[in-house]
Amino acid sequence: EHLVIAIDGPSGSGKSSVSKAVARTLKAAYLDTGAMYRAVTYAVLASGADLSDDAAVAQAVREADLQISTDPDAELVVIAGQDVTTAIREPRITENVSAVATNLDARAELVRRQREIIAAHPRIVAEGRDITTVVAPQAPARILLTASEEARMRRRGLELGGTQSQEQLATQVLARDKKDSTVVNFTQAADGVITVDSSDLDFEQTVAAVLDAAGF
Ligand code: C5P
Repeated sequence: EHLVIAIDGPSGSGKSSVSKAVARTLKAAYLDTGAMYRAVTYAVLASGADLSDDAAVAQAVREADLQISTDPDAELVVIAGQDVTTAIREPRITENVSAVATNLDARAELVRRQREIIAAHPRIVAEGRDITTVVAPQAPARILLTASEEARMRRRGLELGGTQSQEQLATQVLARDKKDSTVVNFTQAADGVITVDSSDLDFEQTVAAVLDAAGF
């Protein structure tokens, strides 16, 4: 039997760290689809394609030579043989990723690659924005991990080392989600998707709640 746990949610919901912990607990693989969007954004920028040219962006995404680790204990993202694991977290990527994520042809290409990766692993936790609805709507466990805006901005602030103002955090967290939600709906659970609200849960409690929602 193919164990697929699909987890969607906005930035700052704790999705990545929680999904990794769930994968470790279940000895499953882990797929960070946000890292794939970031990696192809890196490739698009490197290609020199004009970000406002939809066809050029889609073409650069289809040509992107991307490899991503599915080991929850070994994060690794490679573009054209180059380790871009840390580079894809830089502000220039975060600022431009929506231009790729709102390109429907680019999304179709990434969804295709994500389904291939999911099919290649007997047990996998896949997280993103459209996993429960588009990439793996047939997954046996589908979870929407949410948190209040306040909790999400606090967490993202801690992640970034507490150096950002409230205003910068609002731009990074809320503005990006607003842009993202124009193409994918991850603010409301689709039919059959279980919502886990982590606002008042600590990390361990959130992991336990997600495992419980997944039937473990
Ligand atoms: O999860 P993370 O914040 O790293 O994702 C980066 C960006 O990738 C998001 O802001 C969104 O634009 C895009 N994304 C997406 N669909 C996914 C995962 C990420 O559109 N399944």
